[in-house]
Amino acid sequence: MKKNILITGGAGFIGSHVVRLFVNKYPEYHIINLDALTYAGNLENLKDIDSKPNYTFVKGDITDMNFIHDLFKEFQFDGVLHLAAESHVDRSISDPMAFITTNIIGTVNLLNAAREIWKDSFETKRFYHISTDEVYGSLGETGKFLETTPYDPRSPYSASKASSDHLVRAYFHTYKMPVILSNCSNNYGANQFPEKLIPLVINNIKNSKPLPIYGKGENVRDWLFVEDHALAIDLIYHKGRIGETYNIGGNNEWANIDLVRKLCDIMDKKMAQEIGTSQKLITFVKDRAGHDLRYAIDATKIKNELGWEPSIQFEEGFEQTIDWYLNNTEWLENILSGDYEKYYEQQYEKR
Ligand code: NAD
Ligand code: TYD
Repeated sequence: MKKNILITGGAGFIGSHVVRLFVNKYPEYHIINLDALTYAGNLENLKDIDSKPNYTFVKGDITDMNFIHDLFKEFQFDGVLHLAAESHVDRSISDPMAFITTNIIGTVNLLNAAREIWKDSFETKRFYHISTDEVYGSLGETGKFLETTPYDPRSPYSASKASSDHLVRAYFHTYKMPVILSNCSNNYGANQFPEKLIPLVINNIKNSKPLPIYGKGENVRDWLFVEDHALAIDLIYHKGRIGETYNIGGNNEWANIDLVRKLCDIMDKKMAQEIGTSQKLITFVKDRAGHDLRYAIDATKIKNELGWEPSIQFEEGFEQTIDWYLNNTEWLENILSGDYEKYYEQQYEKR
């Protein structure tokens, strides 16, 4: 009998890399990918594995309590990797409610279903909640986030993720649910929706459109290649200790302006144009409300306990990412129609 493993949000950016890794690496698992296919979910991300015998896609919404309960009953999951979320800070500023329902209520629905269906078999089960470093708030110029750093979320997105993290831990302490958590820094790589900084900049350079930098571009993010995140998730799911939290980071801090300049130079080379051409597109626009200054992860715990470190250095990951977006024009074109256009106008026209 194969083990039934539920992965939520598997049609999204990080989720699709995790689903692919698990489907290919563990033929003894039956992977059930549950995704509502919001604007951010895209089954094209998984077309290379969607006919594998150990993979099933289910379209459904984690905010639907009865549906989630029935799904747990039907599949009797052995484990859960929970990635489904509303994930974009800018959208959380203009529409917080979707973040509250999906990130908080949706997580509680999964916890409740697992608690009920697993009640006599907690010791063989595992509920893994995937979260973000943004729950720790904003750093000054020095220091890094540790697993023990107090939570201080400052956007509706990070507050909703923090809330879900607290609930997952509460179910561990109160009901002895077999939970495990990780908090990761900014990811980049193939299949990221092009409203996040890196794919947005690549796409705009390709189309000679302005590159919007919020404020002065001084905000710092710690960038991790998405496939390294998927490898960390695999390790934590199988070897992490129940009740524990693991921070995951790229040890790779960039101020936004330096990152965008770097992308510009690589793109100039790839597009066989004079170095400096793309940098002329950089445009400073109105800052994001409550824009966190700096995120940086101390990933010592996962390195010491599980032996994980990022395997791809930034230069290589960056080249690969740019090549992917340049070679997958159809993937990009399919997204850039209709709703994306509307979002882009609303987000950037008034800045
Ligand atoms: P994403 O927005 O690309 O994908 C989210 C997926 O969840 C989409 O496929 C979407 O359709 C699905 N979804 C949304 N609402 C749903 C609902 N109500 N029911 C079922 N499915 C729903 O996000 P991502 O960047 O892949 O992030 C995945 C997870 O990792 C999130 O929990 C996020 O908080 C966390 N995370 C992301 C980053 C990052 O840099 N992107 C960093 C650290 C942690
Ligand atoms: P983003 O990719 O939205 O990730 P997050 O807000 O979760 O860190 O943004 C990364 C950084 O880039 C963040 O500091 C905001 C900034 N940014 C811009 O300067 N311009 C943009 O158009 C976008 C989307 C982001």
